[in-house]
Amino acid sequence: MSDEKASAEQVPHVPVLLDEVLDALAPLESARILDGTFGAGGYSRALLEAGAEVIAIDRDPSVAPFVAALKADFPDRFTFVSGTFANLDELSDGPVDGIVLDIGVSSMQLDQAERGFSFMRDGPLDMRMSSEGPSAADLVNTLDEAELADLLFAFGEEKKSRRIAHGIVTARSTQPIGTTLELARLIEKTIGRKPGDNHPATRSFQALRIAVNAEFDELVEALFASERLLSEGGRLAVVTFHSLEDRIVKRFLAPEKSAPQQSRHLPSAEQIVSPWASVAKSRKAGASETSRNVRARSATLRAACRGTAPARELSFAGLGVPRSRGRA
Ligand SMILES: C[S@@+](CC[C@H](N)C(=O)[O-])C[C@H]1O[C@@H](n2cnc3c(N)ncnc32)[C@H](O)[C@@H]1O
Repeated sequence: MSDEKASAEQVPHVPVLLDEVLDALAPLESARILDGTFGAGGYSRALLEAGAEVIAIDRDPSVAPFVAALKADFPDRFTFVSGTFANLDELSDGPVDGIVLDIGVSSMQLDQAERGFSFMRDGPLDMRMSSEGPSAADLVNTLDEAELADLLFAFGEEKKSRRIAHGIVTARSTQPIGTTLELARLIEKTIGRKPGDNHPATRSFQALRIAVNAEFDELVEALFASERLLSEGGRLAVVTFHSLEDRIVKRFLAPEKSAPQQSRHLPSAEQIVSPWASVAKSRKAGASETSRNVRARSATLRAACRGTAPARELSFAGLGVPRSRGRA
């Protein structure tokens, strides 16, 4: 095991908006809570310490040491299931009182060069949270130029997506692009870098990561699965890290405001009864948290309480989910 591999003794990932998440899921004593994004177990541990039973899910096998640590400390109240949160209602093994999702990558994933998530660390261009399916290198080396440009624009909001895609296709005609730094340098060379701006590869890396892990599909499916799993009074808390994700959650929780274009076959916006009885105002981290943890700066928490209306059929309509021809 390399020094960079996760271990339960390191301080691996500082949980974001923790107090606000616990607040949104309260009351916790004897509650059954599903943590769909276990990571280093920061939320799970706090929930267990507050007296809850926790069922945790993660798709990344490298979380095993953190799972083992919680199993040792809370043998009767902690269960872990390896899998993706898209079908969390099937993985939960019974009803739950609350669900939390902390979307995106963990600090461990970003910090381990060999996972290939970071344009600052040299490693294979991988980016898979689990070790299955096509990697970022597969996408970069096989999609055609238009598909690549489309992907970078849709999932990274990269305005220079066409130039970057052209640069990639030209470079790979000599030799496949295999590492994070090769791609980061190529993007920098292609679109330049202004002093004070974010690294020019930031948006492209975000886009590739989202595509490789089908992150938007996973999020939408998990939201609908939560709606099915929770009964009246059940609480949902979702933390997101960029506006594309936050928009999906916001629209999902307010179907009456985001009804898709009307058709005579669909109920009108006024007729929609939201399955969510109360939706809290979104919350951001305060100055003291952002000064301690840079990741918290871009975090938004949205929380809601399940009402009595039946769960909806899975549908992407009206949620503003970016689509790309070049997705994995
Ligand atoms: C931001 S971290 C969670 C950190 C955690 N809240 C903590 O306090 O340690 C996100 C975790 O969710 C996992 N993840 C992301 N997408 C997932 C999915 N679709 N299904 C299951 N796990 C997922 C990642 O592997 C990662 O470990």
